[in-house]
Amino acid sequence: MLRTHTCGELNETTLSEKVTLCGWVHRRRDHGGLIFLDLRDRYGFTQVVIPPEEKALFAIAETVRSEWVLKIEGTVRKRLEGAERDDNPTGKIEVLASAITVLNEAKTPPFEIDQEKEVNEELRLEYRYLDLRRERMRRNITLRSKVFQIIRKYFTEQGCLEVDTPCLIKGTPEGAREYIVPSRLYPGNFFVLPQSPQQLKQLCMVGGLDRYFQIARCFRDEDLRGDRQPEFLQLDFEMSFCEEHDVQQMIQGSMEVILKECSTKPLKGGSIGRYTWQEVMDRYGSDKPDLRYDMPITDVSAISEGCGFKVFEEALAKKGTVRALRVPGGAELSRSEIDTWTELAKELKAKGLAYILFKPEGPQSPLLKFFKEGYLEKLQDATGAQPGDALFFGADKFKIVCASLGRIRAEAAKKFNLIDTSVHALFWVTNFPMFEEQDDGSLTFSHHPFTSPNREEWKHRKEEPLKVHAICYDLVLDGYELGSGSIRIHDRALQQEVFTMLGIEKEDAERRFGHMLRAFEYGAPPHGGFAYGIDRVVMILAGEPNIREVTPFPKDQKAKDLMLGAPAPMPPKQVEELGIRIVENK
Ligand code: AMO
Ligand code: AMP
Repeated sequence: MLRTHTCGELNETTLSEKVTLCGWVHRRRDHGGLIFLDLRDRYGFTQVVIPPEEKALFAIAETVRSEWVLKIEGTVRKRLEGAERDDNPTGKIEVLASAITVLNEAKTPPFEIDQEKEVNEELRLEYRYLDLRRERMRRNITLRSKVFQIIRKYFTEQGCLEVDTPCLIKGTPEGAREYIVPSRLYPGNFFVLPQSPQQLKQLCMVGGLDRYFQIARCFRDEDLRGDRQPEFLQLDFEMSFCEEHDVQQMIQGSMEVILKECSTKPLKGGSIGRYTWQEVMDRYGSDKPDLRYDMPITDVSAISEGCGFKVFEEALAKKGTVRALRVPGGAELSRSEIDTWTELAKELKAKGLAYILFKPEGPQSPLLKFFKEGYLEKLQDATGAQPGDALFFGADKFKIVCASLGRIRAEAAKKFNLIDTSVHALFWVTNFPMFEEQDDGSLTFSHHPFTSPNREEWKHRKEEPLKVHAICYDLVLDGYELGSGSIRIHDRALQQEVFTMLGIEKEDAERRFGHMLRAFEYGAPPHGGFAYGIDRVVMILAGEPNIREVTPFPKDQKAKDLMLGAPAPMPPKQVEELGIRIVENK
């Protein structure tokens, strides 16, 4: 090694030692004839002193600039009294230099490495290798590595085999568009990058591997958000001969270790909560509510029959629902804030966002004139609305009302600072519907098509498919969906029937999933599993607003790699070899 110690290692136990350090010049300070260099590496900072008597050294030190790479030889000594720092493990010592070697020079970086200042994100991503030198990224990447270690140790101790599955595969439906890779040897044919290793891990169970885990790279071509990347990592897990609580035990055990070792915040209520999908949708309007605050939604359908306000009455007449969200302190919202929220609700297909403001001087709302006598009082009783509060209403189909009020609930919590950020809220959501109805009336899966239905309810699938629940479960942390899992189908006939109900014709099912159907004919064990997004876990633990901040080399919000300049055009010859012709986008 070129060094004897790292820049974070020296302290009062190493006084008088002769040492060699390597690192980057974090800062150079010229002080009355002395030059101080803060030398930085991944492990920390060490102050280096160059005394003016050492003329040759001093001359080198004077030319040194930020981010140059140096090798410093010297002796550890105590810092002068008053110059000590408690905020740095090396803050009590310094290294008196006896030799300086410039290992490499550096251009002035496009942004400052030595400060926690906000820097334009595009620039950070273009020069990610410089951004990685900064404290924030160093902290986040270190945390990410720690989470990997915990996961590997935990699942190995639980008897799981770490099995790597390929990335050049066939499509596996998880609800997003797929990235496809052309085959040179079979022109016109394509590999698909996995949205998840779902099918392969199930096939591992058919293969008798019993307990599997993988830190799996997944690819999804979908609209990007702060908690999504085109490629990301899942902790992917599967086990045989289990029931849903066995999978949940295993997964929550891993989350408990991760939280214990990587977070100082306790779990709200002291433990991991449990709700059914219906419960969280009814109470919070979302299947991944942030439960660090309560703010429940109230079903006011029963008291709204014949209430006088047409919008509500018509929604009920169409077998819809009327629900109200009480926002404590909401009476002070301005007209324009309410307009903004109304637009948010409309983006989620709501037709509007009726409201009442309970001002100190009395209730205020364009709706009051329509209300039959006594209705306002009933609403206040049902919701507990107090002077100072606001009520927001959704009147429509259940899904639309949930989506819009769930969104307003989240906006209100941000606006009125209701989120208790001193805790984590972690809970299971179970018992999701097996199918969802699409706008054209057809059915789609709510988890993925390999999820087992509740066998009792399945008996009534023909009459009431939407009433069948799946044996599947999500884990939610601080308002983010961390992961999903289920007990799987392991029976060919059932799998075939689910495909049919999803509108996947027999030949199509055979073409896309024939390998699964065949595997189920050769003694597939009952099995189930789960996957959580590791990037999301790290993002939440790091308190970062998006997963780009915890991903070493992320794509930007338009799915581009700004550092590599990818995606990029390919030489025509290479494209031709693949049997592909590029069509100009007019
Ligand atoms: P699901 O599709 O719910 O389940 O994905 C599991 C978890 O992966 C994370 N995730 C993402 N993270 C970052 N960027 C993305 N684009 C992205 N998409 C998903 C989320 C999500 O909860 N095969 C099933 C799991 C199973 O049934 O075992 C699956 O992939 O945290
Ligand atoms: P309108 O009668 O359409 O002018 O709407 C009167 C008020 O009710 C406005 O504040 C709308 O935003 C609101 N509104 C309209 N439709 C709905 C709906 N389906 N759910 C909730 N509020 C609505």
